[in-house]
Amino acid sequence: MPEQKKKLRSQDWWTGPEYYAFARRAWLRSEGFAPDAFQGKPVIGICNSWSELNNCNAHLRTVAEAVKRGVWTAGGVPLEFPTISLGEMFMKPTAMLFRNLMAMDVEESIRANPLDGVVLLCGCDKTTPAQLMGCASADIPAIVVPGGPMLSGQWKDKKLGSGTDGRKLFDLYRAGKLNDEEMCEIEGGLSRSAGHCTVMGTASTMTSLAEALGMTLTGCANIPAVDSRRLTMAEMSGRRIVEMVREDLRPSHIMTRKAMENAITVNMAIGGSTNAVVHLLALAGRLGIDLDMREFDEISRRTPYIVNVKPSGEFLMEDFFAAGGVAAVMREVLPLLHGDAPTVTGKTIAENVANSVCHRPEVIRTAADPLHMEGGTVVLYGNLAPDGAVLKQTAASPSLLQHRGPAYVFETYAQMHEEIDRDDLPVTAETVLVMKNCGPKGGPGFPEWGQIPLPRKLLKQGVTDMVRISDARMSGTSFGTVVLHIAPESYVGGPLAAVQTGDLIELDTVGRKIELLVPEEEIAARLARFQPLSPKYERGYGKLFLEHVTQANLGCDFDFLRAMPTRRPDGRDSAESPGRPR
Ligand code: FES
Repeated sequence: MPEQKKKLRSQDWWTGPEYYAFARRAWLRSEGFAPDAFQGKPVIGICNSWSELNNCNAHLRTVAEAVKRGVWTAGGVPLEFPTISLGEMFMKPTAMLFRNLMAMDVEESIRANPLDGVVLLCGCDKTTPAQLMGCASADIPAIVVPGGPMLSGQWKDKKLGSGTDGRKLFDLYRAGKLNDEEMCEIEGGLSRSAGHCTVMGTASTMTSLAEALGMTLTGCANIPAVDSRRLTMAEMSGRRIVEMVREDLRPSHIMTRKAMENAITVNMAIGGSTNAVVHLLALAGRLGIDLDMREFDEISRRTPYIVNVKPSGEFLMEDFFAAGGVAAVMREVLPLLHGDAPTVTGKTIAENVANSVCHRPEVIRTAADPLHMEGGTVVLYGNLAPDGAVLKQTAASPSLLQHRGPAYVFETYAQMHEEIDRDDLPVTAETVLVMKNCGPKGGPGFPEWGQIPLPRKLLKQGVTDMVRISDARMSGTSFGTVVLHIAPESYVGGPLAAVQTGDLIELDTVGRKIELLVPEEEIAARLARFQPLSPKYERGYGKLFLEHVTQANLGCDFDFLRAMPTRRPDGRDSAESPGRPR
C-alpha cells in the first residue's frame, strides 16, 4: 500500500537555511505568488504538450487552465511547464524518432523540478506513450488527461474519419475518380477541430489504454476535445492529483504487470492500433516488467473484438464516446481483466466500471456477440520474423489472411515511391509487396510507411487490398492486409534482407506464421553477403538514436532507459520504482 503523509518532495527546494532555498522562493515571487503560497502545499506540475506544431494538442492550454482550477481547489499549487510536442502529421522523418526524446524530456523535467505530482496533458499519437514512459521512470504521483478526439469529419452528407477516410479518398483521387475541387472540399472538412484523430488510430488507442492502465479518471479518455465535459474532467483530475500526492500513489503502484495485461486485453477488444504493441513493450521496459510479444497473441486469442469503430469498423470516436467509451468496453470484458488492479481514482478497475453502461450496442457489441472472436492484433513468427511481426487482422481482408504469393521487393521507401505508379510494374493482386530498410534503425525512427500504397495499375483494375510486408510501422488509422514490425529488421541483417523479387512468401494468420519459402541454406548464403546501407546520422540525437534504439520486439526504447528487471524470484513484480532515486 502507498505510504501516508510523507514529507513533500518540493519542500527540499523551498526550505532550509542555505542561500538557494531563499533564492528559489524569491525567484518564484517574480511570478506574483504570495509569500505563503507554497508553504506545506503540494506543487503539481502540469506537463503540457501543447504546440501550434501539433494541431491535435492545440487546445491543451485551455485544458491546463481547468486542471489548475482543480489543483487550487484541492489545496495544491499548479505550475504548468512545456515539453517538446510531437505532431504526427508534421515531423520528419517520423514523430516516432522523437518519442524517446520526449520521454526523456518529460522524465528529466519532472525529476529536476520541485514537483510533488504531475498532470500529463497529451493526445497526438506519440505524446501519450512518451508521457507515460517519462512518468513511469520519474515515478512521482501522476495522472493523465488526454485532450480527446476531434469532431467527426464532414464532406457533403458523409461523416469522415481523419486518417482512414482521408487515405481512401486520396486513393480515389490517385485513380482519377475524384477531382481537384472535390479534394479541396475534403481537405477543409476532414479535421474540423482540435483534438486527435477521430478513428481508433494510435492516439485514440493510447489514450484509451491510459484509462485501461488505470492512469486516468474513469470515463476521461474518449470525451471529444471540444466538449465542455473535457474541461470538467480536467478540473476533477486536478483535484485528484493533490489527493494522490497525499496518498503517495505513484505510477509504479498502478502500472503493474496486471495493468499491462489489462491494457493489452482492452487493446484487443477495441481493435486498437498495432503501435500499441511497441509502446506497451517500451512502457513495460521502463517499469521492469518482463513483457513478451507472445503474451499479446495469447491475450488476442482469448479476447473478442467488440468495438465497431474505424479503421476496423464503421463508426467514429464521437459515436464511441456516446456509446459509453472505454469504460463500457472494460465493463463488458471484465471477466478477462484483472478487476483488482488499482487506479488513480483510488479504486480498482472493477469498482470504476461497475456502473458503466453501453448506450449504443451497434458501436460497442457484447462479448457474446462480437465483431470477431479474437482480438484485433495478432503476432506472427517464422523464418521471416524470428523475433516477431504484427498484423491487424480486423483491418485486413479476410480473403488474404491465408495467402501465398510471389514477392515484389522495394529495397527502400524511396524506391517504392519511384516505382509504385509505374504502369508496367510487374505485379498482380496475388503479389506480396515487400519493403526493406524501414525499421527502427533503417528508417530510421521506425516510420509509419508499412501501408505501402497499392500500385496505381491495380487500383485502376479495382484491386482494394494486397498482402504487404515490411519492418515499418503503420498508422493506427490505416487498414489492409499489412504485416508490420518484422524483427530483427532488414537494416541490421534480419531475414527480411534476404528476400528477392519472385521468392514465394506465405502468410498464415491462423497458424500465426510468416514464412519465406526459400531453402534455409539459400537464405543463409544471401544473408552472408548482406551489406547494410550507410547510417543516415553521423551526429547529434540521430546518432544517439541509431546507437541505442532497441528492436520492435523490445519496444524501440533506448537500451539505457530500460529498467533492470525487478521481477522477484517468486514471479511477482516489485512495487518499487525501477528508476533512479526520486
Ligand atoms: Fe495527431 Fe492523428 S495526427 S492523432
